[in-house]
Amino acid sequence: MTLILAIETSCDETSAAVIKDGHEILSNIVSTQVEFHKKYGGIVPEIAARKHIEVINPIIQEALDKAKTSFKKIDAVACTYGPGLVGSLLIGVCAAKAIAYATEKPLIGVNHLEGHIYANFLSPITYPLFPCICLMVSGGHTMIVYVKDHGEYEVIGRTRDDAVGEAFDKVARLLGLGYPGGPIIDKLAKEGNPKAIEFTRPMLNDGFDFSFSGIKTAVVNHVKRNPIPSSQFPAPDIAASFQQACVDVLVTKTLRAAEMKKVKTIALAGGVAANSLLREQLKKEAKELNVIIPSMSLCTDNAAMIGAAAYYRIKAGKSSELDLKPVANLSLS
Ligand code: KG4
Ligand code: ZN
Repeated sequence: MTLILAIETSCDETSAAVIKDGHEILSNIVSTQVEFHKKYGGIVPEIAARKHIEVINPIIQEALDKAKTSFKKIDAVACTYGPGLVGSLLIGVCAAKAIAYATEKPLIGVNHLEGHIYANFLSPITYPLFPCICLMVSGGHTMIVYVKDHGEYEVIGRTRDDAVGEAFDKVARLLGLGYPGGPIIDKLAKEGNPKAIEFTRPMLNDGFDFSFSGIKTAVVNHVKRNPIPSSQFPAPDIAASFQQACVDVLVTKTLRAAEMKKVKTIALAGGVAANSLLREQLKKEAKELNVIIPSMSLCTDNAAMIGAAAYYRIKAGKSSELDLKPVANLSLS
């Protein structure tokens, strides 16, 4: 049995988890700071780092207690070391290094994006996950990754401007809906008509890269030309049509990538993988391909996914040195 204590602090969630044998979640505590950032309409890095410091120790203790284990009984300690906000990453990395040093257990630094992919190992699957095409969609990233095997990544498409989650957040702010925008637009879109406004689908038939800033600008221009009367607020048709444009581009390119790489499995990863239309449309259009999607709570940032990725690192005989440093722009491949 291998028990991993994992820590995730790359953005505005402080999370600690205990994972058994790479797939069983004994605990996964997530403390979100969303309330502190809401009034600024986005994450304020200095506030994020300070809030991580305040809660990191109690969150780690809570994760150990819930898993009915202790520092002594864990086999390794893992942490996200990038990409992310450097001040936020630093808190998790320092905590993990201190625990690894004091307990003399191995330290495993994990790439946050790799963690999102490995969230798919936390649900029971009956077929090999790799090779697969992974659509990685979050507030900071949008990419199509060919995952050949553990640790073998080829990024075949990425956004040239905004990440899709960022576009959801910006459109929600424009419509005065609040923060974070993704879940709010997802919910509101259920009451709207996705065909009401034909927003542009940039680069739909052109390679594997994306442009979401173009869709966001189309929404801005539409609202300028047709101001929303207060009687029609909060504009469900705009939310539904915007969401449909984003999902059409994501699904079309992901399926094309799966066809090109001749894979049988598509995996979703990242916060936007919680989007209900994306989940539904991808499953429907993938037809005979396997589509694997983490449960809602494992799509957004959490430490369980970092523990799952760390397990395969340990199995491959890899670990990090105690001088591990956060890398804000750490890449996947
Ligand atoms: O992966 P994540 O938790 O943090 C990053 O690493 O960025 O992703 C957060 C992003 C935010 O932009 C949020 O608006 C978006 O995921 N998101 C969603 C939904 N839930 C979260 N976007 C669309 N629909 C959702 N249901
Ligand atoms: Zn993330």
